[in-house]
Amino acid sequence: MISKKMQDAINFQINAEIYSSYLYLSMSAFAVNANLKGFAHWLKVQSGEETKHAMKLYDYLLDRGGKVELAPLKQPPVHFQNMLDIFEQTYEHEKKVTGLINKLYETALKENDYPAQVLLQWFINEQVEEEASAREILEKLQLLGEKATGSLLYLDKELKKREG
Ligand code: FEO
Repeated sequence: MISKKMQDAINFQINAEIYSSYLYLSMSAFAVNANLKGFAHWLKVQSGEETKHAMKLYDYLLDRGGKVELAPLKQPPVHFQNMLDIFEQTYEHEKKVTGLINKLYETALKENDYPAQVLLQWFINEQVEEEASAREILEKLQLLGEKATGSLLYLDKELKKREG
């Protein structure tokens, strides 16, 4: 059986992951409106990844005999300036999520919850990748600068190749 403290902390993280999915979906819609279908595709795949993260925690909680308590979702931003703005926010958001995962792991340590510690090691590794991929695209956009439309379209084509 899982402790109440651990259960609450996992429910909190489920909400944070579903919010992440919602945030990337909002960004993806903005990219569609900006006719950048490759960026839109990448962000939509990312949104799906976040739903998978939430479901991993959801299934885990139920497997441990815990109670899933879904909380209301915060509204994500709907207005963005451009792709640079979106990827600045993406990178900042992923760093925030890394902090949340680390905190969750600390709770698992304090609660002597060994299965949760094993599960959360997957998330800790995943966050290294999440930050790296967001940072890579952000740094490419920073290299391009504002007016390099041709390069932006090239990058857009590249991002369309993401599998998901
Ligand atoms: Fe679920 Fe992007 O962290």
